This record gives sequence, structure tokens and C-alpha cells, in this order.
Amino acid sequence: MRREIIAGNWKMNNLTSEVETFFKDFGALSADTKRQVIVAPAYPYLKTAGELARECGIELAAQDLYPQPEGAFTGMIGSKMLKDLGVSAVIIGHSERRHILHEPLDLIREKVRFAQEEGFHLIFCVGETLEERQSGEMLNVLTTQITSAFDNNLTAAPEMVTIAYEPVWAIGTGVVATPEQAEEMHSFIRKLITEKYGYGDSRILYGGSVKPNNINGLISLEDIDGALVGGASLKAESFRALVNA
Ligand code: 13P
Repeated sequence: MRREIIAGNWKMNNLTSEVETFFKDFGALSADTKRQVIVAPAYPYLKTAGELARECGIELAAQDLYPQPEGAFTGMIGSKMLKDLGVSAVIIGHSERRHILHEPLDLIREKVRFAQEEGFHLIFCVGETLEERQSGEMLNVLTTQITSAFDNNLTAAPEMVTIAYEPVWAIGTGVVATPEQAEEMHSFIRKLITEKYGYGDSRILYGGSVKPNNINGLISLEDIDGALVGGASLKAESFRALVNA
């Protein structure tokens, strides 16, 4: 049985007072879930969020990880700092880092290796752009993103390796993938990681304009084990609705 995950990626949003309000409100709303719940605040808010998240039974994730424990790496955050702040999961390969920062495949691969070595729950993001979908390249794109990071590079238990399928055209656009589109991609990923690596028990999340009114149509599908949510994770009410859905 794959335990479902609802994860919130706050990106570059939520200041101190909003972080505090989020957890106060989230804790006050009635809980009804067996799901694993994770939130990824921006780095400066991990400490504040971590203490409050624990009281709500929420695990703390970081939005990235520099693949070194510590040292002379200006502007980077490594594993020792994240562990010190109570972070248990890391998001690697988010499309905003791939496309805005042009993060290269070999750096993403090194982060994937290091995150596992350091014992973090890896949340590894993949997804095609609109142009790649329209040109029929999407399965090749996913295969490259996954194999370049995973070939001879998986060491953690399958339950500590989660993939988030996030079509770039669905992120922050309000255009959610249809259940058919999402399931096609999820079953492709499941087959790939099962046949190539024996990681069929890893969870595969969908991300991209997930909202309380569309989550059930996605999460009820065979190969969708939860959601990685941006905009709708910023406020307690909508995030609680997603967690309880
Ligand atoms: P939205 O839910 O805002 O589309 O963002 C999805 C995402 O990128 C989560 O990592």
C-alpha cells in the first residue's frame, strides 16, 4: 500500500506572520486524514514553520538542497543546516529551477544522489513544457529527466523516493491536466521506474493547478498517490481541504 502524500510547495511566498497564521488556522480546522502531509516553506522560514508544523503533524521539506553538508558555498544551503532545522524531505528538480535557473541535469543528478545519502525523503520533480507536449515529445522528456537522475543513482528505499509529475503548462496557470492526461503520464512513470529500477512502490504525485475542487478526480486514479501543490497550499483553509479531500 502506498500512503498518499499531500505536499505544499510555498515557493517564494508567505512571510513570518503568514506562516504563523497558516499553522494556527490549519491546526484549528478539523483533521480527517491518514495521508502524509508535508510543507516546504522558503529557507528563512523553516525554523518558524518547523516548530509549528510539528504540532500539526506536518513534516517539513526544503525547496532545494545544495549537495554538500557545509562549507564555502556562498548563498547555498546544505544538508547540515536543513537537518538542524528539522527538515526531513527535499524537493529536487522543480521546473522553476530547471527552466528559470537552467539547472543542469548533472547537478540535479548530484542533488538526487546526495539527498538520498543524507537520508532525506526525496521529492523529485519532472514534467514537460507545452511545446514539448504539442510536439509529442513528452514521454521522451520524462524518460530523460528520470533516467539522467536515477540510472545507477538510486540507493534509498522506494518509500523515500517520490516523483512529482508537474507538467510545466499546468503550474500556476489554472489549467489542470485532465485525469486522463495525468493518468497516462503517471502510468508511464510507474512502468518505467518499476521495470528499470524495481521502484514500483515509490509514490508518484501530480502537481499543477491542484485545487480543492479538482483533487478528487486526480487522486482517485490508480497511479496518482497524492499532490504537490503550489498556490492552493498557501492558505490553511484550502490546504486543509486538500489534505482532507
Ligand atoms: P500550482 O499548484 O500553483 O500550480 O504549483 C504547482 C507546483 O509547482 C508545486 O510544486
